[in-house]
Formats: sequence, structure tokens, C-alpha cells
Amino acid sequence: MSKDGEKSGWKEYIWNPRTREFMGRTASSWGLILLFYVVFYIFLAGLFALTMYVMLQTLDDYKPTWQDRLATPGMVIRPKSDETYEIVYDTRNTETWDLYAQALDKFLTPYNNSLQTEKNKECTPDEYFLQEDTGDVKNNPKRSCQFNRTILEACSGINDRYYGYQIGQPCIIIKLNRVIGMLPGKDGQAPFVTCAAKREDTDKIGEMVYFPPNGIFNLMYYPYYGKKAQVNYSQPLVAVKFLNITTNEDVNIECRINATNIPIGSERDKFAGRVSFKLRINTK
Ligand SMILES: *[C@@H]1O[C@H](CO)[C@@H](O)[C@H](O)[C@H]1NC(C)=O
Ligand SMILES: *[C@@H]1O[C@H](CO)[C@@H](O)[C@H](O)[C@H]1NC(C)=O
Ligand SMILES: *[C@@H]1O[C@H](CO)[C@@H](O)[C@H](O)[C@H]1NC(C)=O
Ligand SMILES: *[C@@H]1O[C@H](CO)[C@@H](O)[C@H](O)[C@H]1NC(C)=O
Ligand SMILES: *[C@@H]1O[C@H](CO)[C@@H](O)[C@H](O)[C@H]1NC(C)=O
Repeated sequence: MSKDGEKSGWKEYIWNPRTREFMGRTASSWGLILLFYVVFYIFLAGLFALTMYVMLQTLDDYKPTWQDRLATPGMVIRPKSDETYEIVYDTRNTETWDLYAQALDKFLTPYNNSLQTEKNKECTPDEYFLQEDTGDVKNNPKRSCQFNRTILEACSGINDRYYGYQIGQPCIIIKLNRVIGMLPGKDGQAPFVTCAAKREDTDKIGEMVYFPPNGIFNLMYYPYYGKKAQVNYSQPLVAVKFLNITTNEDVNIECRINATNIPIGSERDKFAGRVSFKLRINTK
């Protein structure tokens, strides 16, 4: 085949002046194809919009339509360094613990008494703060209860700006993740946190003190109705202060929630209701 023949064959395929075909089709053929796809995509878009519309009609802005029925809250600690729960520092090196103190300062700022007093309500302790809707009449927005920073006493960072880190008596703050509608505790007994060392470290953990006393999450902070319904909600906290923890050694600690209706470490979620971390304070 000559080079010229090949070339003109290609040219003719793209535009054939005799049959007036472009890429093997006439203008009206191309027009029909285009029309078909335009109609087809408009139809798809319409179907999608209709489905979304119907879905959105069934959603309630204020509460999730779908929620894990076995929701067990996870627990988290503060301060956290990166993604690991390892608190390691040296009392003689300010930089190593100042970061933790700063992280706690930042975390606790929204709990300042002044802010809590401004945003939230002084609730009756030891009972659920129920604000149910009556039928279709929504009881929104819902108020939230004050959790004053001063409840954390020696771990509030007010009298001791360094949360005990510099003297080897650090504070750890624990919170329970939010679960909408959860009513923890039973028979008026509030859920509480207990911390203990992992088996081989039992002798190293020393004495601890909890704030508020007994490490309880007061019932008045439950139930939580969701971000939109309860805009000013402050999660209750529990602080643990280690008073005589062994230094210069790793101490592995686990804190758990004790509430009859929160199963710990169920098969579905090993981390439900508990949190583990390592604490190591170097002094030499
Ligand atoms: C919160 O309280 C701390 C300690 O009392 C203070 O240093 C900080 O400025 C306060 N922050 C706000 C936003 O009020
Ligand atoms: C929180 O602190 C403010 C000011 O210190 C106080 O008026 C208020 O009663 C406190 N609230 C609670 C629930 O203790
Ligand atoms: C939330 O806090 C703001 C002040 O920051 C207050 O004006 C508002 O009433 C509060 N809303 C509720 C529902 O408590
Ligand atoms: C602190 O712990 C050590 C052992 O780690 C123990 O010998 C000492 O008596 C404890 N001190 C107090 C005040 O409990
Ligand atoms: C929870 O606390 C009760 C006492 O209030 C105790 O009897 C029970 O053993 C604790 N449960 C767990 C799992 O620690």
C-alpha cells in the first residue's frame, strides 16, 4: 500500500466530502446520538434528584434516622500526643511537659466557669435532664447543663497551671464519646471511671485521686440530644491525678467506665467503655 493511499484513507474517514460524513456518520446521525444522550442524562439527573428529595423528606434535622443500636461509647483521654496514648516526659525538661499542660489548657478553655455560666443552665444533679419533644412539637433548642472547670479542682489548671506535671503528679482527663439518647447508669447510680495498672505494673501506679469525687459522670449531663438540638452541650469530664506513680519506668494503665448498662469491651468493639495508655515520667 502506498503512503499516499493510507493518508487519504484516514482523511476520508474523518471527513468524507462525497457522502458528507464525519467519522463515518452524517450530521443528522450525530445529532440523533447527541439528542439521545442529552435526554438520557436529563432523565438520570431527574431520577437522582427525586430520590434525594424523597430521602431528605424522611430525615429529621435534629436527630439521626439511623443509629447503631448497640452504641457503646468509646473513651478518650487528654492530653494526647499524636495518635498514640503515650504520655512520656522528663520533669527536668520543661519543654517535654509544657506541651501537655498547654494541650490541657486549650481543651479546658470552653469549660471556664464564666463561659459555662453564660451558655448553660444550672441543672439539678443526680437526675437525667430530660427535654423530650411532645409528639410533633419539637422542644428545640434544648439547654445543656453547666460543667464548670472548677469541678476538676487540682486538675482544673486554675491553681496549678501545670496540672502537676512538673512535680511528677500528672493529671489525665477522661471523656466519654457522645452517644445520642444514651442514658448511662441505672437505678440512680451514675456511671464512674476507675483506673488501674495493667497486671505487671500494679505496684507502680501508686495512689490516685479522681475529680469530681469518685470519678462520676453526673446523670444530669444525659441524655445528649445531638449537635443541632443541643448546641451548647459540654461533655462531662473526669480527671485522674496520679499522686505517687513510679518514675523512670513505663506504667501501662487502663481506665474503664463502670455503668451497669454499658458493656465493656464487647465483641463488636474492644475499645468500648475503656481506654489504655502508657505513662512514663523520667526524673534522672
Ligand atoms: C479560661 O480560664 C483560664 C484560667 O482561669 C484563663 O487563663 C483563660 O484566659 C480563660 N479563657 C477564656 C476564654 O475565658
Ligand atoms: C459554675 O460557676 C459559676 C461561677 O463561678 C457559678 O455561679 C455556678 O453556680 C457554677 N455552676 C455549677 C453547676 O456549679
Ligand atoms: C448557647 O449559648 C449562647 C451564648 O454563647 C446563648 O446565647 C444561647 O442561648 C445558648 N443556647 C442554648 C440553647 O442554651
Ligand atoms: C509511694 O510509692 C512508693 C513505692 O513505689 C512507696 O514506697 C511509698 O511509701 C509511697 N508513698 C506514699 C506517700 O504513698
Ligand atoms: C462496678 O461497680 C460496682 C460497685 O458499685 C462493683 O460491684 C462492680 O464490680 C463494678 N464492675 C466492674 C466491671 O468493675
